[in-house]
Amino acid sequence: MATRIGILTAGGDCPGLNATIRGVAKAMYQKMDDVEIVGIVDGFKGLIEGEYHEMKQSDFSGILTRGGTILGTARTPYKSMKIVENDVDKVARMKGNYKKMKLDCLMTLGGNGTHKTANLLSEEGLNVIGLPKTIDNDIWGTDVTFGFHTAVGLGTEVVDRIHTTASSHKRVMVIEIMGNKVGWLTLYTGVAGGADVVLIPEIPYDIKKVVKAVERRAAGGHGFSIVCVAEGAFDVEEARLKKKERSERRAAAGETTASARIVRQIEETSGFETRMVVPGHFIRGGAPSAYDRVLASQFGVYAADLVSRGIFGVTVAMQNNVVTHNLLSDVAGKTKFIPTDDQMIFTARRLGISFGD
Ligand code: F6P
Repeated sequence: MATRIGILTAGGDCPGLNATIRGVAKAMYQKMDDVEIVGIVDGFKGLIEGEYHEMKQSDFSGILTRGGTILGTARTPYKSMKIVENDVDKVARMKGNYKKMKLDCLMTLGGNGTHKTANLLSEEGLNVIGLPKTIDNDIWGTDVTFGFHTAVGLGTEVVDRIHTTASSHKRVMVIEIMGNKVGWLTLYTGVAGGADVVLIPEIPYDIKKVVKAVERRAAGGHGFSIVCVAEGAFDVEEARLKKKERSERRAAAGETTASARIVRQIEETSGFETRMVVPGHFIRGGAPSAYDRVLASQFGVYAADLVSRGIFGVTVAMQNNVVTHNLLSDVAGKTKFIPTDDQMIFTARRLGISFGD
C-alpha cells in the first residue's frame, strides 16, 4: 500500500516554502518505494473545501529557488476554525477530507496560527507534522524558521540603499520592518545594516531617548541617522494600553503605523528632517537565500524521516544547530519573543545602537 502524504502551506507566504516541499518530496521518494503526495490548495481553506490534487514527482523539480508557494496559501484564522458558519463545520470538513484523500499524514507549513490549527487537527486524531515558516522567526522551540534569513538579507539591502539618501540629505530615515508581534527581523536587519536606533515590541521606547540618540549622532558630526522600527513597536505610554486601544488612538491621530508616529515625534521634538520608508512585502518576496535553501532542505528531509519513523503530532525545529522536533501541543499558542537579555540585544547595545530605552 502506498504511503499518502498531504501537504499544505498556510498563512503569509515566505521564501523557502517550495524548497521545503521539495525536500519532503525528494526524501519521501528516495526512502519509500510507494509514495503518493497530495497537494492541498490555499492552506486550510483547501482542506476545508476539498480542493486538492495528486502531485507527480516532476512537480517538485525546479522549485528550490522559487519564492512564494506552488500550492497557494490563505489566511484562515485559528479563531474561526471552531465556529460553524453557514452550516459548515470546518473541523469536521478537514477531518472528512483527510479521510477522503486517504492520507497517512498531513504536513502543514506555516507560522504560529498554522501551528495552532495543526495541533487542533492532531488532537482530533489526524497524523500531523508541522514545518516552521515565517520571516518573523517567532515560533517557539526553534532557534530559526525558514524565510527569516532571506528577509534579513532583503531588509539589509533596503537599509544599505536608504543609507546613501540619509547621508547625502542629512536626514533621519525611519525604516519600518515587518514583524507585528516580535522584533527579531528588525533587530537582525538593524545590526546587519548598521542602524543607529532599533525599536522593537519587546522594548517599548521613550521618544525622548530616541531623539537623544539622533542628537548625539549629530553632535558627533554625523548629520544623519537610520532608525529601524518593527511594525509592532510601541512607546512606553502605548505600552500601558491594550492593543485595540493603541490602534484606536493611532487611528484618531491619523497615524496607523508605528513608523508614521515615530516620524512625527522625531520631527516635532528635534526639528530634524525625517522621512519614512516601508518596504513591507518586498522583504517577504522572491527566492530564498542559500542559507534558507539549506535550512528548508534539512527541515523537509527531517519531516519525511518522521513519517517513516511513525512520529506525528510534532513540528520540526532547529536547536543548537541540530534538527529535531517538538510536540505541536508544546508549541501551539506560544510566541518566541526576543528575551531582553538576548545576546544580540547585548551585541547591538555594545555597537552603540539605541533601543530608545
Ligand atoms: O507573519 C508574517 C508577517 O510578515 C508579519 O510580519 C506581518 O505583520 C504580516 O505577515 C503581514 O501579513 P499580510 O501579508 O497578510 O498583510
